[in-house]
Amino acid sequence: MTNPDYIIIRAEEDGVHVIGLTRGTDTKFHHSEKLDAGEVMIAQFTEHTSAMKIRGKAQIYSANGVVESGYKK
Ligand code: TRP
Repeated sequence: MTNPDYIIIRAEEDGVHVIGLTRGTDTKFHHSEKLDAGEVMIAQFTEHTSAMKIRGKAQIYSANGVVESGYKK
């Protein structure tokens, strides 16, 4: 069930959170990873993770293209 594509999240400020949400009938947070400015997380969607929520300013690279989260200053 793991999607072979990787999602790359690059934090553009301190304290960006990458939050994994569970797959299945219950949708719950199961993991929160804190990134500081310049840190990168490379992640996949798996049998356990159906969605990710990004809090804070970051660039998100995926097969869908690039999207920016957070407010611009
Ligand atoms: N144990 C989690 C899983 O296998 C690890 C994980 C994968 C994860 N992708 C994620 C955690 C994205 C947070 C966000 O699903």
